[in-house]
Amino acid sequence: MTERFKTHEYDVLIIGAGGAGLRAAIEASSTGASVGVVCKSLLGKAHTVMAEGGMAASMGNVDDRDNWKVHFADTMRGGQYLNNCEMAEIHAREAGERVLELEAWGALFDRTKEGKILQRNFGGHKYPRLAHVGDRTGLEMIRTLQDHGIHQGIDFHMEVTVTNLLKDGDRVVAAFGYEREKGRFMLYKAKAIVIATGGIGRAFKVTSNSWEYTGDGHALAYDAGADLIDMEFVQFHPTGMVWPPSVRGILVTEGVRGEGGILTNSEGKRFMFEDVPPLYVSSTADNEEEGWKYVTGDKEANRPPELLTRDHVARKIVKEVKAGRGSPHGGAFLNIAWIKEHIKDSETHIKKKLPSMYHQFMELAEVDITKDPMEVGPTTHYVMGGIRVNAESQMSTVKGLFACGECAAGLHGANRLGGNSLSDLLVFGKRAGEFASKFASECEYGNIGTNEVNALVTESLLPVDRTEGENPYKIQEDLQETMQDLAGISRCDEELKTAIVRIGEYAVRSTTAYAPGNREYNPGWHTALDLHNLLVVSEALCYSAMQRTESRGGHFRSDFPEKTEEGSTYNTVVRRKNDGSMEVERVPVIPQSDEMRAIIEEYK
Ligand code: FUM
Repeated sequence: MTERFKTHEYDVLIIGAGGAGLRAAIEASSTGASVGVVCKSLLGKAHTVMAEGGMAASMGNVDDRDNWKVHFADTMRGGQYLNNCEMAEIHAREAGERVLELEAWGALFDRTKEGKILQRNFGGHKYPRLAHVGDRTGLEMIRTLQDHGIHQGIDFHMEVTVTNLLKDGDRVVAAFGYEREKGRFMLYKAKAIVIATGGIGRAFKVTSNSWEYTGDGHALAYDAGADLIDMEFVQFHPTGMVWPPSVRGILVTEGVRGEGGILTNSEGKRFMFEDVPPLYVSSTADNEEEGWKYVTGDKEANRPPELLTRDHVARKIVKEVKAGRGSPHGGAFLNIAWIKEHIKDSETHIKKKLPSMYHQFMELAEVDITKDPMEVGPTTHYVMGGIRVNAESQMSTVKGLFACGECAAGLHGANRLGGNSLSDLLVFGKRAGEFASKFASECEYGNIGTNEVNALVTESLLPVDRTEGENPYKIQEDLQETMQDLAGISRCDEELKTAIVRIGEYAVRSTTAYAPGNREYNPGWHTALDLHNLLVVSEALCYSAMQRTESRGGHFRSDFPEKTEEGSTYNTVVRRKNDGSMEVERVPVIPQSDEMRAIIEEYK
């Protein structure tokens, strides 16, 4: 049979070119492996840039009490102890080294007066820990990794969507996909494959994620037989834009609160001071680095209650809105302009520290944040759940298949601390590249039948070949509405059951998705093919959320609003059964070593 696709071969294939994918590619290629990178969008356009406020690493440049142990303990507390503690330890130990390496590769961080990398406060971090570049840290990271990676002999395949992984026995040996522009089909044979495709935000209606984030890597791994873990835990970032409607969900960096921004309700009340954990007390403290003062919550660490963990802040905003004390468009007010009471020339200061936020609000909402408050509300930002990986190597439960970055799970447990994603990308991107290359060096290419690949071509073309059917955008929109309303920031048993029934109906409708035209420049076709991934991750999320009958981190059950003892003992795993149905299992949380337990106790 003739081939209807083009073939490439690499020792290591990386799917995704955000921070994790690029870091993995650089590492794999530095070991001498041939490396191909496939990305759905243009190189450099990744959700990494939405981690604006900084990357967390306990370098102690602003507060020398900080060290990896405190970072580890904060990460575990933030994750409500469901984290893979081995990953949390590796991350806390290696983050500083990765940040310095990025600096050596050309990243231009903001500086302390002594010339060290400046670190700022962020939610849940005990000390100022986020190395940053104004409010454009993720962008600087991508720029640096691209500039560095481009000279490593890596092949980049842009605007290619991978739709299937192929196996030879129990090992993943190739990826199949298509060029979005021309619709040509591609087969990438590889000895090892690293998935670094990011998140699932597009399963929801309001999200900070752009169109690419349809859970592709999660679904690819699941279809190949890999375990997904912790899928009930989704992070709703407390501050997305709420107005105007066309920009609803766009991120407003936590860096605004890190720089002293406060949250108020329609009565002008700073509502975050209510129900704050005992650690937080109202006080005034100096920001020594900048030489100005603001009202803080945590006396010892100079942290205001606005910098509690994201799950807590997001729920508090929703509570204010539900109580009728929200802002005009259903959010809360975030005010950085008020620092003018404490700092000379606050306008220049805000523009320097938060240049993107200043422009974003000026251009999109006609709000001058140096003078007026912003209106903000929760937005789907990040999924803590994802591909279950080995802490050291990042290999999934399927041989030859690795994962890193947001699509991998474990480090963050039930809730990720802001800033821990950028350091996660670097630490585990490097490890995934290193171990994928090692794996590749120990094996040969697998066998793949031409017929098998041609069948995938035929299947992929169904939405274009149909002569009638349903608009895939409508199915996607209905799914997003369902997930937003029934499986979002608050869920209950009845809602989740309804969501699962509807997801089943959308799956049936997706088999009739119709994308008239041909396969060149056909976005309807791309949407039709993305539907499968969105449906897989939505179903996994709902089943996982249904069985966790408690509230913890990014998972809030209105019918079970408290944490339970039992809930701290297990993680939820979903996997595909041979008959194609989804299996849900509870697995014990990885036990902490005595040393790690002692550290957690010490820094509690
Ligand atoms: O708010 C932010 O700048 C986001 C950071 C993050 O998600 O790590």
